[in-house]
Amino acid sequence: MDYFLYKKGKLYCDGLAVEKIVKDFSTPLYVYSSRTILEHFVKIKKAFAKLKPLICYSVKANSNLSIMKLMVENGAGLDIVSGGELFRAKKIKCKPEKIVYASVGKTDQEIKQAILYGILMFNVESLAELNRINSVAKSLRKKVTVALRFNPDVEANTHSYITTGKKENKFGMDSESVSWAFLNKSSFPNLSICGIHIHIGSQITEGAPFVSAVKKTKQLITSLRANKSEINYLNIGGGLGIVYNDEKPQTAKEFADLILPLLEDLKVRLILEPGRFIVGNAGILVTSVTYIKEALTKRFVIVDAAMNDLARPSLYGAYHKILPLNKSLGTLENNEKKTDIVGPVCESGDFLGKDRQLSVKQGENISVFGAGAYGFSMSSNYNSRLRVAEVLVKNRKAYLIRKRENYSDLVRNEVII
Ligand code: LLP
Repeated sequence: MDYFLYKKGKLYCDGLAVEKIVKDFSTPLYVYSSRTILEHFVKIKKAFAKLKPLICYSVKANSNLSIMKLMVENGAGLDIVSGGELFRAKKIKCKPEKIVYASVGKTDQEIKQAILYGILMFNVESLAELNRINSVAKSLRKKVTVALRFNPDVEANTHSYITTGKKENKFGMDSESVSWAFLNKSSFPNLSICGIHIHIGSQITEGAPFVSAVKKTKQLITSLRANKSEINYLNIGGGLGIVYNDEKPQTAKEFADLILPLLEDLKVRLILEPGRFIVGNAGILVTSVTYIKEALTKRFVIVDAAMNDLARPSLYGAYHKILPLNKSLGTLENNEKKTDIVGPVCESGDFLGKDRQLSVKQGENISVFGAGAYGFSMSSNYNSRLRVAEVLVKNRKAYLIRKRENYSDLVRNEVII
C-alpha cells in the first residue's frame, strides 16, 4: 500500500532512512513518499482506463504546491473549493480546462477569478449559486459551463462529519431542484448546464454506497434526458477509503469494477475527484518524545506534535497507526500500561493516539502513519505553535517543500494598536 517500510527495524521512505531525513530537517515533520502518491494515482487511472476519465486530484487533501505539481505533471486535473486553491492551481500552472470547482459558498470574487482563468466547470450546490454564477458570467460577457451537484440521499457509513450525500447535509441539491434547473436553463443564458456531480462523503470503505448513489444519479440523468436535457459530464467525486488500522477498503479496481458497468451505456465524460486515496498513505508525521509521564492508570507519551499539526484524532476520533522510527530501540510488553500519545496543547482533546502499546523513551522519534491527507492541510497555529516543515522524497532524495514557520511568521499579519 505504501513505501514506508521497515528494514532491520528502521523506517525508510522510498528507500531513504527517515532517521536521516529527520536529522536534516528536525521534528515535527511531515514526510511524503512521491512513489506512493504516483502509484495510487496510476491505480485509479488504470482501473478506470476504459472510460479515460479526467482525474481531478482533490487539493484540500494536501495542498502543498510541490504535491499538486507532482499530480499535474503526471496528467491529473484539480478539484478546488476556494479562491486560495485556485491561486495555488495557477501557481503550478495547472491547465484551466482541467479544473473543477465545488463548495457551497463560492463568493462573487472567487467565481469571477475562476471564470477569468477559464476553468472547465463549476460544480454548483444551490439554485441561489446558479443565479449568482450566471450574473457574474453575464457581467464578464462569458458563457460558463456548470454541473449541478446532486444530493442522492445515501448513507455512506463513514464519520458523520464527513458524510455529504444525505439529504440533511448542506451539500448538493435534491432531484426536483436539479430537474427544475435543467428545465429552466433558458433563465440562465450565461450558463451551459450540462453535467451532474455527486460526492457522498469521505473514507468510504465499501462499494455499496457508491453503487447506490450512481444508480440514483443514472435514473436522474435518464429522466433529464427524456426531457431533452443534454448531459455531457458525470463527476462521481472522491471518497475512496484507505487503510489506517485494520480496515479492508475496496481497491481501486474493485471500485471501478462496480461502477464501470453502470456507466457504460451512459455516454458521459467521467470525472473523478480522489484526494485521500492518492495522498493519505503517502505521508507520515514524525514527532519526537519530549517527556514520558507515568500517571496512576496510564502512561502519557508527550510529543512535540499536537492536534494543531494533525487534527484528525481530536476532531473525528480518527485512528492513526503510531510506531517508533527505530523499532529496535523499544520493546513491546504485553502487560504494559496503556499509553496515550499526546501533544503539548492545553486541551484534553489533544491526542494523536489513545490506549496504545508503545514503548519508547524520551528523545526518541515516532511516526504517525496515514497522515498524508487532511494532515498538514488542516493544521493551524493554535497555542501559537509554529506550523511544521514538509519534506517530499523523490528519487531517493529528500526535498524541503515547506519551511518550518518561525516566530515572525506567526505575527506577520498582526497589528499592535
Ligand atoms: N470532492 C469533493 C466535492 C469533496 O468535498 C471531497 C472531500 C473530495 C472530492 C475528496 O474526498 P476524498 O477522496 O479525499 O475522500 N477532513 C476530513 C475529510 C474531509 C473531506 C472533504 N471533502 C478527514 O480528515 O477525514
